[in-house]
Amino acid sequence: MEIIVQPTPEDASLIAARHVARLVREKPDAVLGLATGATPLTLYRELVRMHREEELDFSGVTTFNLDEYVGLAPDHPASYHTFMREHFFAHVNIDPGRIHIPDGLTSDVPAFCRAYEDAIKAAGGIDLQVLGIGTDGHIGFNEPSSSLASRTRIKTLTPRTRRDNVAAFGTQEQVPIHVITMGVGTIMDAREVLLLAFGIKKSAAIAAAVEGPVTSMSPASILQMHPVARCIVDVTAASRLARTGYYRWVYQQKPDWQKL
Ligand code: GLP
Repeated sequence: MEIIVQPTPEDASLIAARHVARLVREKPDAVLGLATGATPLTLYRELVRMHREEELDFSGVTTFNLDEYVGLAPDHPASYHTFMREHFFAHVNIDPGRIHIPDGLTSDVPAFCRAYEDAIKAAGGIDLQVLGIGTDGHIGFNEPSSSLASRTRIKTLTPRTRRDNVAAFGTQEQVPIHVITMGVGTIMDAREVLLLAFGIKKSAAIAAAVEGPVTSMSPASILQMHPVARCIVDVTAASRLARTGYYRWVYQQKPDWQKL
């Protein structure tokens, strides 16, 4: 895994945005895997700016979001459909027919999950998956103990994750218990993965994922087995890593052709 440590979340997000934009310019029909949460907000804001000011064209891009809460309608204020619309899709020229987000209201969850996997395959697979990380090391909504080979399916949130996500809902009781999420195996099939993490509250999860053993107790740790995984963190999220000096050195020494 490549670890890129940046002074601030803003610096980290701008590097991530540049990287996503480069892919979209090189491959106008790129398939992007997208994440929600506070972490990718600046990345989306910057992509929107590039669309408005630098003609970054999303008309041929296909997207698959990682997850959605079971029971929430697409127009529910806390749904990930709403999040993506408000922070990204409404502001770029993406074709609505190419947007995929799990359906929290599906009446047949297993059939829906199979169809979601089929749709990813039919689109040619995900070129670049953007990820955040939960304080317990989850990616998507794959909580600790998730099978590292799992596919899109229903999951039950831990009390901790429901607490972490309370802001969008008001009270913890209102946070749904169930979600539909791409599996860890689904995420691992992406040709490239970009994990973003900011803030001291992510430092333990990042240390476990990057320098700990590969284990389902830290689902993000499986990214150590991914051939093209990058982890872009700010200094506070990096603060519990043992080898930060080396990661910085690697980044500084990059040959020009390899710079992000
Ligand atoms: C939720 C989402 C994840 C996200 C995580 C962290 O659990 N399902 O995709 O990475 O929250 O959220 P935040 O970026 O707000 O810290």
